[in-house]
Amino acid sequence: MVEIIKVPLADRTYPILIGTDILRSLGEELAAIGFPHKVAVISNPTVSSLYGAQVKSSLEHSGFSVLEYDVPDGEEYKNFQTLQSIYDVLVGNGFDRGSGIIALGGGVIGDMAGFAAATFLRGIRYAQIPTTLLAQVDSSVGGKTAVNHPLGKNLIGAFFQPDLVLIDAGTLNTLDPRDVAAGLAEVVKYGVIRDADFFNWLEDHVADLLDKNPNALIYAVKKACQIKADIVEVDEKEGSVRAFLNYGHTFGHAVESLSGYGQWKHGEAVAIGMIVAARISCRMGLCHQNDVDRLTRLLQTLGLPVSAPVFSLEDYLAVMQRDKKVRNGKLSLVLNCGLGDAVLKQVSDLKEIFSAALSS
Ligand code: NAD
Ligand code: GLY
Repeated sequence: MVEIIKVPLADRTYPILIGTDILRSLGEELAAIGFPHKVAVISNPTVSSLYGAQVKSSLEHSGFSVLEYDVPDGEEYKNFQTLQSIYDVLVGNGFDRGSGIIALGGGVIGDMAGFAAATFLRGIRYAQIPTTLLAQVDSSVGGKTAVNHPLGKNLIGAFFQPDLVLIDAGTLNTLDPRDVAAGLAEVVKYGVIRDADFFNWLEDHVADLLDKNPNALIYAVKKACQIKADIVEVDEKEGSVRAFLNYGHTFGHAVESLSGYGQWKHGEAVAIGMIVAARISCRMGLCHQNDVDRLTRLLQTLGLPVSAPVFSLEDYLAVMQRDKKVRNGKLSLVLNCGLGDAVLKQVSDLKEIFSAALSS
């Protein structure tokens, strides 16, 4: 059975198809929406060796002309050099405005292939086929595309919506447990910022999720995609509530960039960042210590880190000053109100706030 969630954006509305064993229908689904017939499937050797043949065969069966291009696997390759290599392949193979891109992989591939689609010839059509839990619950939906800058995560990018997101939960069977946990960090985020009942459900289903129980995983993916679609519908370009999706990310991105991209998984860094955000929320009277303790326990039982790696406060602050939520030199933090709601607060006494949060 295929579940369909729509991301409603007027004439750029697109479907998220969610199911098991639906990769084989990719060609049919793209043909049905009139996707360009000449396509580049951007992936990496890990994912293409698992799913590349199935994707190619499905596409060719529906009449698509397919060029496969693998970039190296890893967050450390989410940069301009790799992006340039994608442009080189597109130009070298005569791709034009009537061609399309298919991102097959996790968030790194989706963000980079999406940015290539957003910028090549000022924008060509693309589809997201996310194969990690993190990409299925977050990065493939909503049109944020980017590459990293050596001084900060995702600093160069564009909002550019895909034409289709096809989520085959069966691909999670081959995912390493550390990547399952990293994806679950973003799932927990949705509970904290938006849905207390979903947070309770997560607390009750830790074992099912870690065991990759298909019903539990599909439920979590659907819930996450629905929450994200609802938010993107009202605030596509992060003028307001979309910022809540960055809960835990200001500090998490600093962890990733100070440690060297690839050292910590994005979801692991977000888990650490969520604890820091929850402690700050508690100190500001927005939630109780019991909420911080529940969040810490849930993340720990999911196998996620909850302690920040040791860097000087000055280093953390310097990176956070380059956060995309800085306006006129002032940073806004996403904080949790209890569990299930969030608020964006502009803060000026960063040093004091983070020093207290990191020492508690
Ligand atoms: P990733 O893309 O590096 O994937 C993790 C690992 O899993 C990689 O080694 C990959 O090759 C492997 N893999 C992928 N699918 C697999 C499968 N089915 N079986 C086995 N191995 C598989 O990391 P990620 O956690 O998916 O994504 C993290 C990235 O997403 C970060 O760069 C982050 O900034 C970005 N992100 C973007 C958004 C957004 O809205 N655009 C949101 C959240 C995160
Ligand atoms: N992952 C944050 C966003 O899509 O806005």
